[in-house]
Amino acid sequence: MNILYFLMIAQLIHAQTLIIQLTENTIGLKFLKKYDTILKLCSYEYLEISNNKFIIGKFDTNFLKSIYFDTEVKSISKDNQINICQLKKKNNLSYESNNNYIMKPILEQSSLLNTKPNDTSPLVQHFAPRHLVRLTQDHAIKKKQEMNFKYPLSSPNKKKNHNIYLLDTGVATTHPGFYHKKIINKTIMKYNFTHNLNNEDINGHGTSIASIILSQLLGVCKNDCNIISYKIIDDNGVGYLSNFIKTLKYIQDNETNGILLLPFISEKSQIINDLMYTFNQQLNYTIVVPAGNYQLDSCNYSPSSSNDVITVGSIDSTLDKIADFSNYGKCINIFADGVNMLTLSNNINDNIPFDIFSGTSLSAGIVAGVLSQWLNNYDEINFDNNNDLIMKLDNLAIKGIIQPNKYLENSKTVNKLIQMI
Ligand SMILES: *[C@@H]1O[C@H](CO)[C@@H](O)[C@H](O)[C@H]1NC(C)=O
Ligand SMILES: *[C@@H]1O[C@H](CO)[C@@H](O)[C@H](O)[C@H]1NC(C)=O
Ligand SMILES: *[C@@H]1O[C@H](CO)[C@@H](O)[C@H](O)[C@H]1NC(C)=O
Ligand SMILES: *[C@@H]1O[C@H](CO)[C@@H](O)[C@H](O)[C@H]1NC(C)=O
Ligand SMILES: *[C@@H]1O[C@H](CO)[C@@H](O)[C@H](O)[C@H]1NC(C)=O
Ligand SMILES: *[C@@H]1O[C@H](CO)[C@@H](O)[C@H](O)[C@H]1NC(C)=O
Repeated sequence: MNILYFLMIAQLIHAQTLIIQLTENTIGLKFLKKYDTILKLCSYEYLEISNNKFIIGKFDTNFLKSIYFDTEVKSISKDNQINICQLKKKNNLSYESNNNYIMKPILEQSSLLNTKPNDTSPLVQHFAPRHLVRLTQDHAIKKKQEMNFKYPLSSPNKKKNHNIYLLDTGVATTHPGFYHKKIINKTIMKYNFTHNLNNEDINGHGTSIASIILSQLLGVCKNDCNIISYKIIDDNGVGYLSNFIKTLKYIQDNETNGILLLPFISEKSQIINDLMYTFNQQLNYTIVVPAGNYQLDSCNYSPSSSNDVITVGSIDSTLDKIADFSNYGKCINIFADGVNMLTLSNNINDNIPFDIFSGTSLSAGIVAGVLSQWLNNYDEINFDNNNDLIMKLDNLAIKGIIQPNKYLENSKTVNKLIQMI
């Protein structure tokens, strides 16, 4: 890059938040000391997540000029956006329920929203939503079929209790559908906004995902999951890489390993992929992410392009076809339902506190719920070795059932659909 061009860029990025990643072998404090006199004038934060070393802040052009050729600097990156992977909800639930032979009986069970789980009864949910039924039968959802979801009993002597860490828009934890459920709120990001610094979910994305994981009526994992909700994405569904890094730092320092559910996507980022390596390979977290909703190759985005995550695409379970919106490509590990899914709404004052959403984020939520169910119930699964979970996911998956189309054929996308039992 010629220096004049660099100076132009430096002018442009002046006063923007930047992320400077140092090489693994750099000693952070020594590096900061080297530039002490210039850095004194900038506002920044230095943080380390295992071998990943970052300086995040707003920098002076002189500083950027000085470090540009420093071999201890691995990259200088803008504070890129991260975006949730959810499509606009259908806004006429009453229309859907009147016309949908499946939705109606479920909605009529709204009175059961907060019943306590009954571990002594046979664990079959009748009139279950499609996304649950599809997990335990070997064919697409047919009209007028029985909508039963059979789910395992919790192991009586279960010792394991691994959390799902959901980094999202917050969760409406006071929704009656979450009654009896363990969801813990954390807001660690200080948005660059003056409003809504608590955990209220104004967007609805986090609530919809939490609901398909652990709510009594719609959840994959009714008895054995805990969610810790980190609010890192704003009300419009947009977050920033810098806040994501700070959240991962907080998790590294304060949590024990579990399932990291990251229902968002950004442009491909070496920083994100480096962090995925660290969390999976070194800190032993199992990471689940959506493929993205752009109908493009998921290998062109992060974290979906990382080798250290489980990337999930969407199908329509009434046809077993790839969803129109779903990304594809060889970075996908598995598919799950993701079209017109019934979820709990963030608007808890609604008459019918449900929403219908589509998106690969929801498919990732299903996978996270299934993994958590296995993890907390099967003693033979060694959590320190993520391969056990991935092997089980692979072994149980139905192969070759998704209707082939040009994406599957041209892009070496796997043809695997998740099954729970
Ligand atoms: C929603 O659906 C109901 C039931 O079919 C219908 O009466 C109503 O007019 C629809 N509302 C809108 C805004 O389309
Ligand atoms: C729980 O299951 C038992 C056995 O099937 C049944 O007798 C009891 O009524 C159930 N309780 C609730 C609250 O559904
Ligand atoms: C947020 O940051 C942007 C640019 O970094 C700035 O223009 C804006 O004024 C900030 N908003 C608040 C509420 O501080
Ligand atoms: C989570 O945050 C919401 C909104 O701030 C609050 O109403 C709710 O009680 C919190 N839930 C828990 C379990 O702390
Ligand atoms: C969690 O980690 C952060 C950042 O690493 C640290 O500042 C904070 O004190 C920790 N919080 C708790 C409750 O330990
Ligand atoms: C991760 O798992 C390996 C065994 O697979 C273990 O040796 C290592 O100590 C674990 N690391 C952490 C941070 O738990």
